[in-house]
Amino acid sequence: MTKLLYIQASPRGENSKSGQVADTYLAALTAANPGIEVDTLSVWDIDLPVFDGDKVAAKINVMTGQDHNSVQRTAWDQIAEIANRFISADRYLFSVPMWNSGVPYRLKPYIDVIHQPGLL
Ligand SMILES: Cc1cc2nc3c(=O)[nH]c(=O)nc-3n(C[C@H](O)[C@H](O)[C@H](O)COP(=O)(O)O)c2cc1C
Repeated sequence: MTKLLYIQASPRGENSKSGQVADTYLAALTAANPGIEVDTLSVWDIDLPVFDGDKVAAKINVMTGQDHNSVQRTAWDQIAEIANRFISADRYLFSVPMWNSGVPYRLKPYIDVIHQPGLL
């Protein structure tokens, strides 16, 4: 079965225009491909750990082949749990409004957390 991860970056729920476009696409896609499993993730609803010094140290240790201490191991486990949800998908759909010529700020820490050496 194909798994699609639908990542929503607008906090506006059903009022979201980008979400409405993506929902329309998704309805057509799943009608044509009934076997697709959809996992919907709003970056506003998930519990994102702060990508702080412990997380950065854990990332650098992976990149340099060093062992984690207990604090870094906990930090890395938190990262891996979120990254694995992303990695487990076969296809991705992003609904992303423009905010001040960029993306809504909650999308950036999500990318920082999932984008890890050895995982993604
Ligand atoms: C905080 C904020 C910043 C925005 N910045 C821009 C922008 O730089 N350029 C633009 O064309 N629209 C901008 N918009 C308008 C949104 O992109 C537009 O309303 C879009 O429909 C919002 O998507 P949504 O309905 O999925 O939330 C901004 C809206 C918000 C709330």
